[in-house]
Amino acid sequence: MPKPIVAGNWKMNGSRESINELLQKIHIELTEEIDTEVIIFPPYVYIQDAKAQLKDINWYVGAQDVSNFDQGAYTGEISASMLRDLGCHYVLVGHSERRHILGESNELVAQKFINALNHKLIPILCVGETLEQKEAGSTESVIAKQLKSVLDLPNGAIELSKGIIAYEPVWAIGTGLSAKSEDANRVHYYIKAWFAENGVEHTPIIYGGSVSPDNAKELIMQPSVDGVLVGGASLDAHKFVEIIRCIN
Ligand code: PGA
Repeated sequence: MPKPIVAGNWKMNGSRESINELLQKIHIELTEEIDTEVIIFPPYVYIQDAKAQLKDINWYVGAQDVSNFDQGAYTGEISASMLRDLGCHYVLVGHSERRHILGESNELVAQKFINALNHKLIPILCVGETLEQKEAGSTESVIAKQLKSVLDLPNGAIELSKGIIAYEPVWAIGTGLSAKSEDANRVHYYIKAWFAENGVEHTPIIYGGSVSPDNAKELIMQPSVDGVLVGGASLDAHKFVEIIRCIN
């Protein structure tokens, strides 16, 4: 069985000092061996610091976004090959904050997904519905559209099989209102069934949105939940370690 995943998305938070302190505290707290794939997503500028601090434990470092372009005159963009060069293994694409605050479309997110794979990064494709969409009963159709934008590209089913999906209901992110574990499981199950129908294989699906030490155990006990993507609680060493222990 593949290892469960715990991903920590630091978003646009921290300083060199605070992230060093955070990782040191995690080192001190987490003394036992773990059998979990832990991935940290620092802001771009702190990726190297995080890599250096994590060199003695086999955790992975990823980026929170990647350009859809390969290289050239795209001021401010960061390419997939640059991230590989820094030793990243993973990248988030289509996080709801990028979709809803920065206006990224399904098509742009799909290009980023493929571009990451082309450079041997594993993309974590974030999908999820807003509160209005949930209340309108369109959770499944919103998610299907987000997934279909990758499926519709050349070899889409094979490409989707190489990534990871993060189901993150927008209304649950940063609100303290996590989805109930059975509801999260139901959506994950829907995605797995959609994958089976469309020839996509072996794609882990992790849950994100107000994951905490209080709900992590219940979430991972669900048969279709393969791990968690943690935002706020990943900035607190004690909470993050507790979540890893629940998932392990
Ligand atoms: P949260 O964020 O855990 O703070 O809700 C999750 C995410 O945005 O990935």
